[in-house]
Amino acid sequence: MRAMVYRGPYKVRVEEKDIPPIEHPNDAIVRVTLAAICGSDLHLYHGMMPDTRVGMTFGHEFIGVVEQVGSSVQNLKVGDRVMVPFNIYCGSCYFCVRGLYSNCHNVNPNATAVGGIYGYSHTCGGYDGGQSEYVRVPFADVGPSIIPDWLDDEDALMCTDALSTGYFGAQLGDISEGDTVAVFGAGPVGLFAAKSAWLMGAGRVIVIDQLEYRLEKARSFAQAETRNFAEYDDIVVEMKKTTDYLGADVVIDAVGAEADGNFTQHVTAAKFKLQGGSPIALNWAIDSVRKGGTVSVMGAYGPMFSAVKFGDAMNKGLTLRMNQAPVKRQWPRLFEHIQNGYLKPNDIVTHRIPLEHIAEGYHMFSAKLDNCIKPVIVPNA
Ligand SMILES: NC(=O)c1ccc[n+]([C@@H]2O[C@H](COP(=O)([O-])OP(=O)(O)OC[C@H]3O[C@@H](n4cnc5c(N)ncnc54)[C@H](O)[C@@H]3O)[C@@H](O)[C@H]2O)c1
Ligand SMILES: [Zn+2]
Ligand SMILES: [Zn+2]
Repeated sequence: MRAMVYRGPYKVRVEEKDIPPIEHPNDAIVRVTLAAICGSDLHLYHGMMPDTRVGMTFGHEFIGVVEQVGSSVQNLKVGDRVMVPFNIYCGSCYFCVRGLYSNCHNVNPNATAVGGIYGYSHTCGGYDGGQSEYVRVPFADVGPSIIPDWLDDEDALMCTDALSTGYFGAQLGDISEGDTVAVFGAGPVGLFAAKSAWLMGAGRVIVIDQLEYRLEKARSFAQAETRNFAEYDDIVVEMKKTTDYLGADVVIDAVGAEADGNFTQHVTAAKFKLQGGSPIALNWAIDSVRKGGTVSVMGAYGPMFSAVKFGDAMNKGLTLRMNQAPVKRQWPRLFEHIQNGYLKPNDIVTHRIPLEHIAEGYHMFSAKLDNCIKPVIVPNA
């Protein structure tokens, strides 16, 4: 089969690999029909994530058709169209039974903090991902769902991560009717978080980024006010000014470890790896939220410490909430919103790229070329 393969920082290519076999009776093999590249994949692509091994196939956002099932699989059969959440989880451990699917205790022998994620380094379990013609899906009775007939393929694909994560980010904000919600980052996660904030009763939604084409999308897709942080000496001062000097009620970090906006932080994190990630957006979030407010962190950070303004968070009495999204938990509500027409997830898809050209896709998405927001990968295009 053809599969995306990591060769080192900024180097990926498509190679021939063996079709993965069933390794456990509850495995399924899925023929991938669509995959996507996530902002999280960029952390891998940039060499930011520890233990990202040469030869790994990335891809934690994918849908496909069941090609083969192990002997104990009951919920899926060959030929089913399935959507697969990015989390790999057992469904029965202490954490899974409490809905903390991203914190499963049974699927990742390499780390205790994070569970399993498809195609996301050995730190996240060492599972190959779905930017490929075929992928092995462990715990096939637990994670995947059959795609409802009314749900378009690209919309289903967006539910496997970006949409569910954005929605989860807004949920963790615990938004009350009329709240002002600020979202740092206008990538797929930030756009979906902004859109979701309205569905949860926000009275005002402000999206902050420096890429004008993405801010334009935040206005048209998520009906948000926008601020380009590059146009201000200090974006935090602007956020205070625009909220009667109180601060936003809820702030969502949808940027993560590679945030721009502060040279020292960026260089110590992204270039010298002295921090688990540059906390610029997170610190702006802590500074921009009002006292007693909530900061929801969807942006991903590496395992090491980062220079987060924890004292200010403490003295402001903030609630900090965060996690890798427990994707499948969001699906029932998201399905309702999609069916009712409140959400059209694939509105943010800008590029459809054949798997053979995935290296160009990574380059374009990473360098933010050609107004790229969300690239979809098509095997066998
Ligand atoms: N928690 C989860 O389950 C989960 C799931 C998916 C993605 N993520 C993480 O969410 C983050 C966003 O993902 P994405 O796919 O939208 O990525 P993306 O790279 O497309 O978007 C990030 C955006 O942040 C902007 N940005 C950079 N520095 C900024 C700053 N200081 N302030 C405001 N904006 C800034 C960039 O210009 C870019 O538009 C990533 O860190 C990703 O790893 C987490
Ligand atoms: Zn992702
Ligand atoms: Zn579990």
